[in-house]
Formats: sequence, structure tokens, C-alpha cells
Amino acid sequence: MNVLNLSEPSHGDIGAERKLLTPCTIVIFGASGDLTARKLIPALYHLFKDKQMPQDFRVVGFARREKTDDSWRKELRADLDEFSRTKPVDDKIWADFAGKIHYCQGDLTDTAAYHKLENLLTSFGHASLRENLLFYLAISPSQFGTVVEQVHHTGLLNKEGAGWQRIVVEKPFGHDLASAQALNRELTRFAHEQQVFRIDHYLGKETVQNILMFRFSNSIFEQLWNRNSVDHVQITVSEKIGVGARGGYYEEAGALRDMVQNHILQVLSLIAMEPPVSLEAEAVRDEKVKLLKSIRELTPEDVARQVVRGQYFAGQVGGEARPGYRQEPKVKPDSNVETFVALKLFIDNWRWSGVPFYLRTGKNLPLSASEVRIQFRPTPNVLFAAKCGKSLGANALTLRLQPNEGISLRFNGKVPGSTISARPVRMHFSYDSEFGAYTPEAYERLLLEAIVGDATLFIRRDEVETAWQIADSIRNGWDGKPLTNREFYSAGTWGPIAADDLLAQAGHEWHEPAVIR
Ligand code: BG6
Repeated sequence: MNVLNLSEPSHGDIGAERKLLTPCTIVIFGASGDLTARKLIPALYHLFKDKQMPQDFRVVGFARREKTDDSWRKELRADLDEFSRTKPVDDKIWADFAGKIHYCQGDLTDTAAYHKLENLLTSFGHASLRENLLFYLAISPSQFGTVVEQVHHTGLLNKEGAGWQRIVVEKPFGHDLASAQALNRELTRFAHEQQVFRIDHYLGKETVQNILMFRFSNSIFEQLWNRNSVDHVQITVSEKIGVGARGGYYEEAGALRDMVQNHILQVLSLIAMEPPVSLEAEAVRDEKVKLLKSIRELTPEDVARQVVRGQYFAGQVGGEARPGYRQEPKVKPDSNVETFVALKLFIDNWRWSGVPFYLRTGKNLPLSASEVRIQFRPTPNVLFAAKCGKSLGANALTLRLQPNEGISLRFNGKVPGSTISARPVRMHFSYDSEFGAYTPEAYERLLLEAIVGDATLFIRRDEVETAWQIADSIRNGWDGKPLTNREFYSAGTWGPIAADDLLAQAGHEWHEPAVIR
């Protein structure tokens, strides 16, 4: 990871390494949106509270609605009371933080508004607050190009020049390979790739970051991390929530674009990549891209065999009645959008050849849980295996990304008594009991990394494009065909039966995420 040599260093210590921070301004485009209230301001407040922000900084919200600095601060305070991860909000800290927040009213297409923004930045009276700029694009991707062009023409964004400028963009980053390439071209017309920070909030999660630490700081597991020992891998990202009020967005996205193309492929690449040559951003991202490129391409025939999609109909989740997807607001009554995807991938490289990777995600499933299960090969069918049959389960290592963050190892133990009988038992590590309840929000870490300029936790251009290639090949396999009866599932179940059949073909079965008490 980078330690930048910047003037006027301050705090910003995360872990053992101290990161140097320079004064800067964070400009949020789309400041009236949900993301700002729910995630960005709470994250910045906590970074400030934990003394991780630069000694001097400003936050400027840019949006169309008429507001004053004060009225916006009041709104943000009310939102923070609701969304802060620590409660109550500290009045003194908030007052200091709020003094650094400003509002700039303007239309994204109006050049005069960008001049107003420039004047505001200059009025802060410190060259660094005018030159070191983090542009956070919490806006629709169709507006990225306009904003980047405008800030460039106003002299706020330079490829070479004084200070540093970075652009943070949110998902969805395109809706297929061609649109992602077009966005990349727009962003890099006026900025270097190194100035573009593409967010995948899964990479901000502690447990996701721990995947590399776990793999490459422990010799016992890394030796087993290959085709010789691993039978198959399961990655589950299940959600109890339905699509709810997000029908408009979801109709354009579906589970493949919303979850698989980004979060799940990111987790997969961290689980399966080769050790990078260093922890520098480019070294880590090189390996992730290499891994994504090693995923065997899916032909339409493969998609028919290896990918299961589903859509929920009305049912109950945890005793609560849920409408079917087609009855959700802003969803077409005959929509064929998938709310569930399960798939089997193969990674054609030396380490993983022949090992199936099963991935699944869905809405309105029985549990909210994200976990990775590495299932090891069974023992030879002699001795205990021959005697105990199925009760001699295979060893498995489960990385629980959320909730109950931690890691469990499953092995067999002898049931006490005179008979030969085995039972799976587990060793658990839990973050909470080991490290206390320190759970910073993903956005805190990501914002801090963007301010410091470390791109390790952000998605590189070739990475996002390779991930789209994979998603596109699946979509091509579906070829706009309507869903069949077999592809529906009742809300509150684990998806269509075909998802179970997918694993059963190879004698495997899905494991329900563990509930740790
Ligand atoms: C978002 C998706 O990127 O991730 C949502 O758009 C999904 O549909 C969310 O619910 C899941 O994130 P988390 O952090 O709650 O697992």
C-alpha cells in the first residue's frame, strides 16, 4: 500500500501503517441523494471523529436544489441521527465537522455553476483546499462525462498540474461491456486512469479485506489452497430483503448485474488469485485481473447447463408476507428480470483446474448472509469413511463475511462411546469476540483510501471490463428468453430447485450459511 510523500502530513493511521494526508476538499456531486445522507456523510463524520481526516478539509455538496450551507447542515444532522453507526451523535464533534460542510447549488450542465464552485473552493483561502480535490460522483453514470468535462474546463481537474485530483465513481459502472468501455473513455478523456477510483463497497468490508491477510499470512491454509486439496468452493451472498422500492433500478439491472458482475466476482478473485508480488495497488489488481481472465468462457450451451436464474413470487420471509417481484412497485407485471442467480464456474489455471466454483445470490431468501465455503476433498473410502458413510462429512473452511463475521473450520470428531461414529465439529473464530465490536462502515475505509490515493481497494479499468465480459456471456446465453416455470421460487426459499440440481450433478449440495450464536 502507498505511503504518499505529501506536504503538511497529519494523522490517518489505520492499523500498523500511518498514512499521510494532505488538506483537501471532497466535492460530492448529487449531494441531495440517498447515498450522501446514508453513507457518505456518516462515513466522513466517523473518520473525523476518529481523527483520521486531514487536519484541514472541507466537504462541498453540489446539487440542483436551493439550499444554504445552514439548511443543508441541518438536514444532514437529522439524517446522521438516523444513519450514524454510533449513537447518539456527539454534538461538539458534529459542530466542528459541520463547520467544514458547504453547499453549492447548481445544475450539472451549467458552466456558471462550476465557476461558482471554483470561487467557493478559492474562498477557503488555502491552496491545498482548492487544488487537492476528491470529486465524488454520486450521480447517474449518464452524467459522468458532463461533470468530468466541466470540472476540467473550469481548471479544477488536471491531468498534470498542481495538487491532486481524483474521481470516485459508484456502481453501476455500465450495464454491459460496451457501456463500461464508453464510460471509461469518458472518464479518461480528462483524467488519467490513476485518478479514477471505481467503488465496489464489498472491498471496503473488513472481512473481505481479511481474505488476502488470511490466505497470505498463514502457512497452514495456503498449502491446501489448490486443486490437490480443494473439492469445490461455494460463495453465497443471500439477502432477506426483496427488491422493495428499488424496482425501477432493478428492472434495468437484475441480480447478475447488481451482485454477480461486481461483488461476487470481486470476492471470487480475492479467494482464488495468486499471491501478488507486493501489496501495491497495481500488483494486487494485476493478479485479480489475471484470475478473472482465467475463468473459463461460458458458451450459450454452458450457460444452459451451468447457470440458473430465478425470480421470486409471493411468499413469506421470516414469517413476514412478501409480494412477488412482478407485484413490486415500478416492476413490469410480466417482467423477466432475475432476482436470483446460481452458477458454476471453472478457473482454467494451474492452481484451480477442474475445481468447481459455485456462486449464488438472491433476494427474498431465508437469511441475509455472505460467506465463502472452501470444501476439501473427502478422505479415501476406507477406515472411518467406509464405516461412517455420509456422517463423515468433508472438511470445510467457512469465511463468514457478514453477519457473525469470522471463520470456522469443520472437521470430524468421534462421538464418545463404544461405537465408531463420527460427527462434524467446528472451530470458530469470531471478529467480535476477538477484536471487540469495531466495525467501521465500508465507506469509511474507502473514502479514506481515496483521500490518501491508494487504489488497492478500487476496481481498475481492465478489471471492470473483464467482469462485464463474464456477465455478458451469461446474458447472451439467456438471449432475452422469458423465464420458464422452473425458474420461479417462492419468497423465503433458497431459490429455484434447479439451483440444487446444479450441484447435485457433481454430487455436491449447497450449505446453508451457518448461524453462529
Ligand atoms: C448493492 C446492491 O450493491 O449491494 C443491493 O445494489 C444489495 O441490491 C447490496 O442489497 C448488498 O450490500 P450489503 O453490504 O448489504 O451486503
